[in-house]
Amino acid sequence: MNLNALIDALPKAELHLHIEGTLEPEMMLSLAKRNKIDLPYANVKEVQAAYEFNNLQDFLDVYYQGMSVLIEERDFYDLTWAYLEKVHGDRVRHVEIFFDPQAHMERGIAFETVLGGITSALETAHKEMGISSKLIMCFLRHLPEEAAFEALDCACKHKDHIFGVGLDSSEAGNPPEKFSRVFAEARAQGFVPVAHAGEEGPAAYVKTALDDLQVQRVDHGNRAFEDPALIARMVRDQTPLTMCPLSNLRLRGIERLDQHPIKKALNAGLLATINSDDPSYFGGYVNDNYKEVAKAVGLDAADIVQLAKNSFAASFMPDADKQQGLDAVAKCLDQVKK
Ligand code: ADE
Ligand code: ZN
Repeated sequence: MNLNALIDALPKAELHLHIEGTLEPEMMLSLAKRNKIDLPYANVKEVQAAYEFNNLQDFLDVYYQGMSVLIEERDFYDLTWAYLEKVHGDRVRHVEIFFDPQAHMERGIAFETVLGGITSALETAHKEMGISSKLIMCFLRHLPEEAAFEALDCACKHKDHIFGVGLDSSEAGNPPEKFSRVFAEARAQGFVPVAHAGEEGPAAYVKTALDDLQVQRVDHGNRAFEDPALIARMVRDQTPLTMCPLSNLRLRGIERLDQHPIKKALNAGLLATINSDDPSYFGGYVNDNYKEVAKAVGLDAADIVQLAKNSFAASFMPDADKQQGLDAVAKCLDQVKK
């Protein structure tokens, strides 16, 4: 079996996915029409032409504009459902999804509208496709601490649907410690903390995400490699890393995909995983990320299997469900050997 067929066949979890980053150009245009929202694009080609990014901020500007077409609960449902149907075909059986409520509340959309659409699609996907999920609410780090506290207040009313809190948006100049107090309160309220760190920001931000925010998982973490002692610590603690190769390429964290540190991470013994981040904007869903980075850095079948296993090990699933995911990987390998 060739490597791409193995990637397609393996059961896996996706742990770093912004639901607003799954908005495909076709859906963006149709929702703009349905909701009478003006966009600066007349067709799919014009939308795609805007997806030329020099850095994270270039992308974020287009991303926040794109999500302005999401107005009604059913829009959030349709968005989430389309993603889940797509990755069901990639053999994804568990997803941990980020959402950015502050970006919607700023536009006058109620927290409950956003959450209701996303969670009802997740519930239907569990029933109809067997995909399990956890939802992680991100604080927008370019906004003040006060705004994050307001989002946390909303989340506290919906603890049955929100598992964790994360930190995303413009990293440079917005270190994790800006949100130490919000994360302390979120942890006290029972939310599991994660954060984007070391995507564009320095290794020091990964360190303060661990020390100050007490995150249980680091999203991206690429620049942690600038600090060998930090890598040694994350290997020792088996701190999961959710890496996103095509995102790093498209946002120019790396110039070429063969420079991606995923192989280095596996060789070092880190609990690294592969994810898509914002697949509609970065040119590929989770299996595309596996395939393209495997080809570029020379991952072999053992590496791919390790990554699929890591995706369950690094998840927030209960232990029994993690084991079921790992057993499904083993079963798949038995079948492909026959
Ligand atoms: N929001 C959506 N995608 C993001 C990314 N890659 N980094 C930071 N914030 C984001
Ligand atoms: Zn991300």
